[in-house]
Amino acid sequence: MNEKFEELENRTAKALEGGGAARIEAQHSKGKLTARERVGLLLDEGSFQEIGQLVTHRSTAFGLDKQVFLGDGVVTGFGTIDGRLVYVFSQDFTVLGGSLAEAHAAKIARIMDLALKNGAPVIGLNDSGGARIQEGVVSLAGYADIFYRNVRSSGVVPQISAILGPCAGGAVYSPALTDFVLMTEGTSYMFVTGPNVVKTVTHEEVSSEALGGASTHASKSGVAHFTAANELDAIRQLRRLMSYLPSNCEEDAPLVPYQEGNESRPLLDSIIPANPNQPYDIREVLNAVIDPDSSMEVHAEYARNMVIGFARVAGQVVGCVANQPAVLAGVLDIDASIKAARFVRFCDAFNIPLLVFVDVPGFLPGTDQEWRGIINHGAKLLYAFSEATVPRITVITRKAYGGAYDVMNSKHIGADMNYAWPTAEIAVMGAKGAAEIIFKGEIAKAEDPQAKWKERELEYQHRFANPYEAAARGYVDEVIRPSETRSRIIHALRMLRNKVDHMPKRKHGNIPL
Ligand code: HXC
Repeated sequence: MNEKFEELENRTAKALEGGGAARIEAQHSKGKLTARERVGLLLDEGSFQEIGQLVTHRSTAFGLDKQVFLGDGVVTGFGTIDGRLVYVFSQDFTVLGGSLAEAHAAKIARIMDLALKNGAPVIGLNDSGGARIQEGVVSLAGYADIFYRNVRSSGVVPQISAILGPCAGGAVYSPALTDFVLMTEGTSYMFVTGPNVVKTVTHEEVSSEALGGASTHASKSGVAHFTAANELDAIRQLRRLMSYLPSNCEEDAPLVPYQEGNESRPLLDSIIPANPNQPYDIREVLNAVIDPDSSMEVHAEYARNMVIGFARVAGQVVGCVANQPAVLAGVLDIDASIKAARFVRFCDAFNIPLLVFVDVPGFLPGTDQEWRGIINHGAKLLYAFSEATVPRITVITRKAYGGAYDVMNSKHIGADMNYAWPTAEIAVMGAKGAAEIIFKGEIAKAEDPQAKWKERELEYQHRFANPYEAAARGYVDEVIRPSETRSRIIHALRMLRNKVDHMPKRKHGNIPL
């Protein structure tokens, strides 16, 4: 009997070796951890239960029969984060470059299937040279098996991708189909075709980092939602992200115990500058309203004219969406619309109430935006809010002009509670522009056109640049002192806790993609 146990021990020890000491050393020298070290740090200590440790490939082509590694280059299984079940796969770059083929893919698919059936998130730690070239088409099939599962799991269980090394070719599409992508700075990259192919096809010379490094995807493409300075930072962020998410679409996000106190926030009474064109940082408003140090911003470097992220209010997780007057005056453009729309849909899919702050001068005008389709992209945000059935609260702090007023979680598209500060200006457009259009003839004929223009501007401002016309019609439920905002939101969230709302029966809607 001892011999049999010994054999098991030998096999297990062999599996734990991965690609061997030299390759592990090479991995460490690049500032990267091994697949197992990552899993060990990500999950609660001692909680990891491995699945498929002894799986091997069956390929004999191109010498692969002499390169058989137990586990086939990916560590898969389940464990807990803060005591809550998660499924994990962690690609092992020390084994055949973490390349994916039939057996490797089947292991990932297996835990995705378990996650879907058992209602728990999947976290993928990606570090791979892509499709295992020696195995040919079965590698492509393996990727497609994963893509298919990514889509079937979308909106059912949260899916998170950490990119901790190379991720190229079609392999990028699994992370792209997941809910959040995190990349490590300097050691990860994602692209459909690498710098060599780019050079051949377009004659552009570009480094891997510039083409698809973490800062590129965090600021230019928006593919990455988070960046991490190193792997330990990445693990810390992944664990923090999990603290905001329910395990599946049937559950609520974890509630943190909260001791009620003085909820007044007097600093908010003086946050809006006297001059309506002067910027202020909407993050200061958000930080005053949410529980201290409870936020995790998403897409912090991308489309900075919109701020999105998770936070807690009185211990309850909320998804915050806010125009940022400090960047491009908080205007809605293509990137900001897409960024917010995807986040709104994530929150709606996973029962996370939406808290929306509005200070928006409208949609960004110009040929660049029009020709790239701001009509369709802006409609995404409109669609996302309109279909959201989670509790939805809006606070208009200052400008809510034009179509952007409608889009930013207005009462008309289904928001539950709409507040406005006394500084709110809810109108078709700013008073100056409005006066110029409707009093054009009169201004042109006036003895002093500038004075006439100013007079009419003030008239329009007096009539519309306030929240009271909207309040009179019930478009805003209440005009509140800014310092009372947190208290109002706490009460509104409590009131909406049991909200039930359903979309009409259908196969699925047709969001303007
Ligand atoms: C098989 C691979 C591999 C792959 C790397 N290796 N990628 N083996 N298939 N795709 C192996 C290497 O042969 C090497 O083995 C070991 O992994 C480490 O690789 P190195 O090249 O020494 O490491 P490094 O210098 O860090 O370079 C990493 C790399 C490079 C940039 C990822 O390996 C590379 O360019 N690999 C090929 C990438 C690629 O073209 N993949 C296919 C993309 S197409 P030894 O034994 O020498 O240590 C694709 C399509 C997916 O993925 C489609 C889905 C729909």
